[in-house]
Amino acid sequence: MATREALWGYRDEFGDAFGRTYFRRFGPGVASSVGIGTYLGEPTAAVDDASREAIALALRSGVNHVDTAVNYRCGRAERVVGEALRDSPIDRDAVVVATKGGFLPFDGERPEDPAAFVRERFVEPGIVAPDDLAGGAHAIAPDYLAWSLDTSLDRLGLDAVDCYYVHNPETQLATRSREAVYDRLEAAFELLERRRAAGDLGAYGVATWDAFRVAEGDERYLSLAEVLSRAEAAGEAVGPDDDHGFEAVQLPFNVAMADAFTRRNQRPPGGDPAGDAEPVSALELAHEAGLSVVTSASIGQGDLAVEGAIPAEVDATLAGETPAQRALNFARSAPGVTASLVGTSDLDHLRENVAAGTFDPLGASAFDAVFE
Ligand SMILES: NC(=O)c1ccc[n+]([C@@H]2O[C@H](COP(=O)([O-])OP(=O)(O)OC[C@H]3O[C@@H](n4cnc5c(N)ncnc54)[C@H](OP(=O)(O)O)[C@@H]3O)[C@@H](O)[C@H]2O)c1
Repeated sequence: MATREALWGYRDEFGDAFGRTYFRRFGPGVASSVGIGTYLGEPTAAVDDASREAIALALRSGVNHVDTAVNYRCGRAERVVGEALRDSPIDRDAVVVATKGGFLPFDGERPEDPAAFVRERFVEPGIVAPDDLAGGAHAIAPDYLAWSLDTSLDRLGLDAVDCYYVHNPETQLATRSREAVYDRLEAAFELLERRRAAGDLGAYGVATWDAFRVAEGDERYLSLAEVLSRAEAAGEAVGPDDDHGFEAVQLPFNVAMADAFTRRNQRPPGGDPAGDAEPVSALELAHEAGLSVVTSASIGQGDLAVEGAIPAEVDATLAGETPAQRALNFARSAPGVTASLVGTSDLDHLRENVAAGTFDPLGASAFDAVFE
């Protein structure tokens, strides 16, 4: 598991090469505000090799935050992250390793018949109950998440992960009420509290796509304050004291998808029960609650790496030599953002993305001014 001492040691080794606030508080210490993601790419040996090299270079270059999930690239992504960590001269304890559970993972390749795979591998052996499934491929029931976390640790070859996200919990809203999803999240958090106490994870959170950035009335919406209060209840229920390990939220954020900053859709905790507390943005609420926010799709899944894709008036305010760097620096500059993930298995892109961190991010007032 990442330790305070090793994380600060990593920052002491690499910090001088980067701009202001490149390393930011995360977990027990600090971590780079550029993180490497492992979502995109085919489930092939060629992508495994390229991704392994990119992660290895990232770790040697000042990026000590690696994000993956049990289902990415049919389960191959976690294996590659584990291999890169084992082969690296960088101490594992100096790296924040985050993974996720929720989507039922394949085992190395896409099966010909995914529904039959789910039935034979998950439902028939009793790993997932049919009632727990949403969309035929997503579950957050405690027993299933326990299996998923064990699978992740096994694939990564690690004793523990630093951050474990419940992956896209809003997927469950397709099959049950919002209140039932909060109840299920609370049960999931109790499991994660127990696994935290057992030393299997350092902290946990939720990784979302729509939940925290859509309008309150949207069917994909979740209240961050309610999710946090369910973690508080889980922490109290599991003990030994009443703290909890819910420390991080992941959400998409980039120049073209800035809702987590621009949309006031989250009501603060402890607000008026009548629901008339002034709503704030997801980023503001997360910041006030002391949560780390990690952005996904920070360069729009590659779309913003193209000259002209960032609106000219915004582009002119951002530091960076290339569009990809400026897009990444937009995401890293938003108030309340801890780290911005960018996925790559291309070494030139990796170098370009790391170098984005040598530029200073926008200050809070300059960032606000972009939207005025
Ligand atoms: N709901 C969730 O939990 C969720 C959803 C999405 C993502 N995530 C996490 O967030 C991470 C980042 O998001 P993402 O990977 O979807 O999108 P992204 O980081 O915005 O973009 C990745 C894409 O951009 C390309 N790219 C990277 N650097 C580039 C550069 N310098 N110039 C040109 N192209 C570049 C990559 O291709 P090359 O390999 O060719 O560089 C890849 O196709 C993911 O990897 C994953 O870990 C989480």
